Amino acid sequence: MIIHILLAAFYIENCISFNILVYSPAFANSHQNFMGHLADTLTDAGHNVTLVVPIADEGRRNVLGIKTTKQVVFIELDEIAKKEIVAVDSSMTSLWTEVATAEDTEKNFFWFTDLMEKTCANVMRSKTLLDELKSKDFDVAIIEPLSVCGLGLFRKLGIEKTILSTSCAHYDFLFPWIGEPNHPSYVPATTSPTNDKMTIRERFENYKYYKYMRDNMEILFDKEEQLYKKYYGDEISTWKELLPSASMYFTNSNPFIDFPRPVIQKTIPIGGISVNMDHILSQKLPKEWDEILDLRPKTMLISFGSMVKSHEMPDNWKSNLLKVIKSLPSVTFIWKYESSDTEWSKNVSNVYFSRWIPQTALLVDNRVSAFLTHGGLGSVNELAHCGKPALMIPIFADQTRNSKMLARHNGSIYLDKHELGNYEVIYSAISSILFDESYNLNAQRLAQIIANQPVKPKDLVIQYTEFVAKHGPFPTMDPYVRNLNFIQKHCLDCFFLYYSSYIISKTAVIISVSIVVFKITNAITSGGCK
Ligand SMILES: *[C@@H]1O[C@H](CO)[C@@H](O)[C@H](O)[C@H]1NC(C)=O
Ligand SMILES: *[C@@H]1O[C@H](CO)[C@@H](O)[C@H](O)[C@H]1NC(C)=O
Ligand SMILES: *[C@@H]1O[C@H](CO)[C@@H](O)[C@H](O)[C@H]1NC(C)=O
Repeated sequence: MIIHILLAAFYIENCISFNILVYSPAFANSHQNFMGHLADTLTDAGHNVTLVVPIADEGRRNVLGIKTTKQVVFIELDEIAKKEIVAVDSSMTSLWTEVATAEDTEKNFFWFTDLMEKTCANVMRSKTLLDELKSKDFDVAIIEPLSVCGLGLFRKLGIEKTILSTSCAHYDFLFPWIGEPNHPSYVPATTSPTNDKMTIRERFENYKYYKYMRDNMEILFDKEEQLYKKYYGDEISTWKELLPSASMYFTNSNPFIDFPRPVIQKTIPIGGISVNMDHILSQKLPKEWDEILDLRPKTMLISFGSMVKSHEMPDNWKSNLLKVIKSLPSVTFIWKYESSDTEWSKNVSNVYFSRWIPQTALLVDNRVSAFLTHGGLGSVNELAHCGKPALMIPIFADQTRNSKMLARHNGSIYLDKHELGNYEVIYSAISSILFDESYNLNAQRLAQIIANQPVKPKDLVIQYTEFVAKHGPFPTMDPYVRNLNFIQKHCLDCFFLYYSSYIISKTAVIISVSIVVFKITNAITSGGCK
């Protein structure tokens, strides 16, 4: 009997379902997809998850990234916001050839900071939102720290237990505010083009990528704080208090793939939650695709993702890529291409264009030999899990970092996008990735490591979120370093004190010895001459 009661208590303790809020503004597919996967992971574990979606870009209302999460609360644009928010420029054509430097950070991310500020104001103006969310009595709220507006909202709703989650490998601009060590000397910044091994020039560049982004985000967060204090009251904490008061920090980084770096105990790497290998392996390739893969001994996929469009690629790069394809007649190329105008390629028979490709089903098919990709983090994670060699040609944002991160494992080759116009370079890279078996072996080795990692990222998400719901927040896990200034933090004062006292004591010894020696010699010489 007692055993039964204990078992029942144990069962209830472990099967308790929590009310979880996942806050995911509609502004960019990759971010929304990641937050959607996070929501689904928790829904699938039996929790009651509500996705709160502040509309930022009306065009992305349907890109929620969720399959099993059913409850969605949209925060619609009001009349003021509809006038203020001009549709996000859907034409990303200029990104193909643009060379972004650290100094361009403010200019390049203006569309984002401006959109976030206006979206925040719109969230604040919503009359019904607070009552609607309050009635749900959330245990935990999860937000991507690209905006602090939601943190103000959580506080207003009385939600004490929060989790920050980045959809990129890391947000280094966040480190000083949460007390995480930052080492731009060997950890590439989010949008930096550098590797971990840097020359002094590269370290300076990398540092600037970090610093400009940090300054930029600080301005945005200050504006958002003004907004939530204005609407919700001055007693809501500042963002500089809300960020470090989060119970955990999830990052979309996998330690077996990413550049190594030191983290604090609250940081939990959950990279890979978006790759569901069981589902991928169970997919059946449609007949049409099956037939294409049987055409030639080898097949290569080409996709530059959903943000920049292949058909907007500069014409000379396009025809160069086609020339390379033509010179490899034993290989079928499948190119994700968003236009039906493929007249320019009609003389080449081994290329197949499609607006959509079943990417993951193709990646696990043995007949597909390699992938040419832009290095979006979603694709990089899929590649690493599926063990396919790749040619990485990043276009913008964090894609260069992702590409170099994967290329370190020797299963892929990184190339600058401007090489797309260079026949020799592209031909040689594509031939290597297709015919040099070492890339394949290295890619498969990495896939083996990931498949056998001791703890699955999905389990980390579930266990840590449940733990936060039951026992969070954890103020004692907040490192004290946030309260120290530069000199104190690096112990420069101690270093100075240590060496100055050392020098003083040594000097004192030398002076006293010299005095004694001088006195003795003086005594001897004066005595001896008597
Ligand atoms: C989940 O949350 C919704 C909204 O708060 C509520 O109506 C529903 O009863 C909850 N379901 C469970 C299983 O707790
Ligand atoms: C196709 O080949 C023919 C004959 O070699 C050539 O005249 C024509 O310009 C080519 N078309 C394209 C689009 O390359
Ligand atoms: C990748 O190749 C480089 C150069 O050959 C080598 O130094 C490095 O150890 C290799 N790394 C891995 C993970 O195989």
